[in-house]
Amino acid sequence: MKTSIEIGTDAAGQGVRIDVQELLATRLLVQGNSGSGKSHLLRRILEESAALVQQIVIDPEGDFVTLADAFSHVVINGGDYDEREIAAMGARIREHRASIVLSLESLDIEAQMTCAAAFLNALFDAPREHWFPALVVVDEAQMFAPSASGDVSDTVRRASLSAMTNLMCRGRKRGLAGAIATQRLAKLAKNVAAEASNFLMGRTFLDIDMARAADLLGMERRQAEAIRDLERGHFLGLGPAISRRPLSIRIGATRTATRMGTHSLMPLPVADGDDMRSMLFAEEEVPAVPCAVAVEPEPVAAGELLERIAASEPLHADAAAPPVLDIVEAAAEAEEADAVVIATLAAMLDDPDSAFQPEAMLFQDFSVRCRMAKLRKVPLDLAAFRRRFALAKGGVFDPGEPRWQGALAVADRLPPDMVAPFLQIARAAMEGAPCPDDELLGRAYGSRSPGRIRRLIDYMEKQGAIVVRADFGGRRSIGIPELGLSTEAE
Ligand SMILES: Nc1ncnc2c1ncn2[C@@H]1O[C@H](COP(=O)(O)OP(=O)(O)O)[C@@H](O)[C@H]1O
Ligand SMILES: [Mg+2]
Repeated sequence: MKTSIEIGTDAAGQGVRIDVQELLATRLLVQGNSGSGKSHLLRRILEESAALVQQIVIDPEGDFVTLADAFSHVVINGGDYDEREIAAMGARIREHRASIVLSLESLDIEAQMTCAAAFLNALFDAPREHWFPALVVVDEAQMFAPSASGDVSDTVRRASLSAMTNLMCRGRKRGLAGAIATQRLAKLAKNVAAEASNFLMGRTFLDIDMARAADLLGMERRQAEAIRDLERGHFLGLGPAISRRPLSIRIGATRTATRMGTHSLMPLPVADGDDMRSMLFAEEEVPAVPCAVAVEPEPVAAGELLERIAASEPLHADAAAPPVLDIVEAAAEAEEADAVVIATLAAMLDDPDSAFQPEAMLFQDFSVRCRMAKLRKVPLDLAAFRRRFALAKGGVFDPGEPRWQGALAVADRLPPDMVAPFLQIARAAMEGAPCPDDELLGRAYGSRSPGRIRRLIDYMEKQGAIVVRADFGGRRSIGIPELGLSTEAE
């Protein structure tokens, strides 16, 4: 199944494609001044990917409701429902994988934020069996994740910001992929922006936004001037789903349009003075010069809308695992497995005797615990388990954490059975804690013999990994020259 979509053309007129599968895993951030063409761009992406992935649009301006004219999106008018109903719809959407547009047009800013937060939280809190991949588009995202406090109450701002942070920072595991657009990067909370790896930067006037856009695109400040001169509908794109180098893209046409079209200049009504006066002062309502009057549709009852959501055709209803899921699921599974490994190692080490048990038994125990945690397969083989267990005995549960890299580099030069006791010492040194006593080192080393522990320390010192100092009171501190750190004396 093809998962890439064409969003426009490059300078040479060649089609530019976005890989939707990759986009779901790596998220998207769009910036451009008002009128630069962000909503048009989002619409193009939504239209082209409508058949590939479930779509959820948070639409503060009611721009996207017309998607429903050509696609199967259900429109939810946020103003018609209370918070509980909105949350129920959020949950139902996850279950039925319905594409929807949540229009917040009729609400004031605080209500928009409250409604979006309730809705996003419901998407986020959906039960595991409903973690299907969905593209979550948020237009004018700076409203929902503002970088600074504004006119709205702190409670509302915090709720909205936390929902957006969950979406962007922790949503992927749950299948939620944020694609957010903002007029100004400087107004968007940094942690929310930081989670996107794909960027589309449109025309930007202010230096501070231009500088941030240039940083994200990895461009020199000098080159960044180009961002000021971009035409409407032109964007610089970069990221794993788009292009490895900044690429100039002219966004293509869309099939649907906003309800009102552009607010461009319209000819003034033709009426002479008298006519105009009679129109203005007439008792009865005189039919005015026709202008597009939107007929407000009757609100749909929450129950009925829930039924519509349930009835909307889910994508790939026939396929057990839609292909577009693969990357997201693989990433989610890996993340999940990582968390299980860490929790399992910690639980095993809670038993003080575990350090002295034979390795084969430990590995079997580990495998059973992983299966009980509902992992489909045991995420480590025996060799990988041996290493992770040693690191965990040394107090390092997540070796991917940057702060351990220095200590791990030294540990890796020692024999495998010394890794754990060495890390216990390194960790104490890094935390400025007292030197671990022989009992603790013994447990990490897997030995209760004081003689063996003494020889262990001698050996590590000969290797240059540690330097032992004893003060006159017989208290011991151990330095690690390569890290330039030392434990406290104990
Ligand atoms: N690539 C494009 N091709 C044609 N029209 C465009 C394009 N991009 C934007 N427009 C038009 O320009 C106007 C402003 O675009 P819009 O997407 O609403 O900007 P923004 O959301 O950044 O404020 C709209 O009328 C839109 O239809
Ligand atoms: Mg817009």
